[in-house]
Amino acid sequence: MRKKEPSITELRALLDAGSMPRHVAIIMDGNGRWAVRRGMPRIMGHKRGAETVRNVVEQCRKLGIGVLTLYAFSDENWGRPRQEVSFLMNMLGGYLRSEIATMKTNGIRFRTIGRTERLPKTAQKWVEKAVSETAGNTGMILNLALSYGGRGEILEAVRRLRSSAGIPADLDEAQFSSYLDTAGLPDPDLIVRTSGEKRISNFLLWQAAYAELYFTDVLWPDFNEKELLAALLDYQGRQRRFGLTEEQLEPRSERKPRRLLPG
Ligand code: IPE
Ligand code: IPE
Ligand code: MG
Repeated sequence: MRKKEPSITELRALLDAGSMPRHVAIIMDGNGRWAVRRGMPRIMGHKRGAETVRNVVEQCRKLGIGVLTLYAFSDENWGRPRQEVSFLMNMLGGYLRSEIATMKTNGIRFRTIGRTERLPKTAQKWVEKAVSETAGNTGMILNLALSYGGRGEILEAVRRLRSSAGIPADLDEAQFSSYLDTAGLPDPDLIVRTSGEKRISNFLLWQAAYAELYFTDVLWPDFNEKELLAALLDYQGRQRRFGLTEEQLEPRSERKPRRLLPG
């Protein structure tokens, strides 16, 4: 007999509220394949993918995640067919227009990484509005990667450094990080990629140095609360060593007792 799959309640009970990742980053992949498998145009997958974004933002907020970064559009995605790009850009504007109120109610602070100046004017306007209207919020940070590429971001940081004070001879990693688009954010603890691809695709190259990676075959439109909890549980089962030996780390017996999630 096959073992019964755990329910959402059971998965939640296994999570330790005291060791949640501070920053979760997701490569939301598989929208096109989701639609094509159903005989639908690719854009229908993006539409369903936007619904998943709404749900995952809400679930992460309720779980107490501090920062959620979502890879929405890469530098390389500009090379896609014109109609697909313009659909995605319109959808971005529409998403922000409809979500600003919810973000305000829920205390979410919206920000972006990437070359947003390359977005069409209307999408830019909604991005700026969402950023400014949620700037005072202190809850979860929702960070959207738009027209983003890790290599481009690193190059841009070098340009910024050059044109500001110049590049100091004793430049250190923390200083350099403050010139990246992610300035002020902690590095991602967990990077999730959906759709079965096992690559980074130019995402957070610098920041991913010690992130735990989680790959699932589930396509982004099908990603749900259960999948999210499974990713978080997998993360909590890892031992992060940051280059040290197991003996140097805090013994399991001395770790803080597990804290249940509220509610
Ligand atoms: C991710 O889904 C969304 C974006 C990259 C904008 P895809 O559109 O890449 O879906 P697949 O990988 O073709 O299935
Ligand atoms: C990565 O997905 C970018 C986003 C999810 C926005 P892609 O579908 O563009 O990546 P590749 O081309 O499969 O590497
Ligand atoms: Mg893809």
